[in-house]
Amino acid sequence: MTMKDEIQSRRTFAIISHPDAGKTTITEKLLFFGGAIRDAGTVKAKKTGKFATSDWMEIEKQRGISVTSSVMQFDYNGFRVNILDTPGHQDFSEDTYRTLMAVDSAVMMIDAAKGIEPQTIKLFKVCRMRGIPIFTFINKMDRQGKEPLELMEELEEVLGIQSYAMNWPIGMGKEFLGIYDRYNKRIEQFRSEEDRFLPLNEDGELAVEHPMKVSSYYTQAMDDIMLLEEAGNEFDIERINAGELTPVFFGSALTNFGVQTFLETYLQFAPPPQPRNTDDGESVNPVSEEFSGFVFKIQANMNPAHRDRIAFVRIVSGKFDRGMNVTLSRTGKSFKLTQSTQFLADDRETVDEAVAGDIIGLYDTGNYQIGDTIVEGKKPLQYEKLPQFTPELFMKVTAKNVMKSKHFHKGILQLVQEGAIQYYKTLHTEEVILGAVGQLQFEVFEHRMRNEYNVEVRMEPIGSKIARWIENEGDVKESMSSQRSMLVKDRFDNYVFLFENDFAMRWFQDKNENIKLYSLL
Ligand code: G4P
Repeated sequence: MTMKDEIQSRRTFAIISHPDAGKTTITEKLLFFGGAIRDAGTVKAKKTGKFATSDWMEIEKQRGISVTSSVMQFDYNGFRVNILDTPGHQDFSEDTYRTLMAVDSAVMMIDAAKGIEPQTIKLFKVCRMRGIPIFTFINKMDRQGKEPLELMEELEEVLGIQSYAMNWPIGMGKEFLGIYDRYNKRIEQFRSEEDRFLPLNEDGELAVEHPMKVSSYYTQAMDDIMLLEEAGNEFDIERINAGELTPVFFGSALTNFGVQTFLETYLQFAPPPQPRNTDDGESVNPVSEEFSGFVFKIQANMNPAHRDRIAFVRIVSGKFDRGMNVTLSRTGKSFKLTQSTQFLADDRETVDEAVAGDIIGLYDTGNYQIGDTIVEGKKPLQYEKLPQFTPELFMKVTAKNVMKSKHFHKGILQLVQEGAIQYYKTLHTEEVILGAVGQLQFEVFEHRMRNEYNVEVRMEPIGSKIARWIENEGDVKESMSSQRSMLVKDRFDNYVFLFENDFAMRWFQDKNENIKLYSLL
């Protein structure tokens, strides 16, 4: 295969969802179809810690975050699929968001009974901002859930994205008979191995005699489909590619129903690796000869004995060969990439070759920062900065032992630069406040300060806050700071207000109409 064909065969995506929607379950099924796991119970087992191996950092072990599941790769129908994990639950962090900077499309998983939930909204917004295609899988049809039309409406109303139903459920819960597959023009029967697929005739009706035909659920589904044909959106690949229209699939991950059909259809329409802009606005084509990539995540101390870290690199262009010479654009330093690792569902493996669209892990001894670009050759290309995300949780932090203050500040500086946590300070007294989007970030911070910088820290929660930056900084007066609307500075010395809640923010805006607040993503 030529390099171009190799690259064209890549599909790199993440699954975005609220905890418990079924992300782990569907991931297992996808890996199973791809032959990457033998038993569709492995990922789940990892989550509960059964398969935990000894060399992960303590917190990771406790939480059962698996390094190997950060990136999962398998081949299917001539495609090479890379699934990037987006940790949820307590593991939700800036890394979760940043992972979305490294994918070409996203699969949005929704629990049919719960509809669109908060974490889905947050992750959706990041995908929306990037304008990447979003494919929706509405899960748990084997259970009683919301009406499918209601769910479609929710997509438009809550998320503001238009939808196109690729298939439509016939009944649900105990009465779930199957899906009417508009795209493949067939009905896929639930729990029926023998005639799993029933053909449709030219009018789009069941072409064979079947008991389903007299079921009221079938009639209902046909009515709904007629409505969709008449009043729904048209299938439009350009709008899908622009992230304006989401193809919707119904199914049930647990019973492995509709997952394979989803995978096959998704692979047909999901985009191959996309070009990426440099900070000069130049667009780099994935098939260009020179290798380039950027670091979107750094995972620390996977093996405490070695204090190693792994920098996850999304390859943007060209081909990676182990041992190649690259330049780190930020420093201009050149070096040889010798130790690299690629991640599979089963095990960590050393990778010798990878192309645009793939993710490689590079062993890092402190050279990389999040957002770094590495390129083959000497041309100093730098990819667009990764966005900073508005933190929601804050802690005041001090060194338990004041004698350690030098180490304390060094540690904080490095961890902040690495993107592990966000730094703020109070005015005048310059007390350190750390901000995060998820609790895990604080725990990792505390752990790493102890283990890498030998500093015990005292963390004092100051709760969740609404952080807002200021467009017209010149108009800010320190007297505007109060208990409920605390004025602090970020690491670039920009003013930031930390509001106690929505009410405090509105109250502040009423009093100070001239101050223009804005949030990061
Ligand atoms: P997550 O990774 O998105 O957090 O969700 P996960 O796959 O762990 O699924 C959450 C729960 O939902 C699990 O049940 C899982 O079995 C169930 N589930 C996933 N897909 C479906 C589906 O299509 N239909 C039904 N009925 N249930 C589904 P649990 O009881 O929390 O875990 P477990 O005891 O089954 O391990």
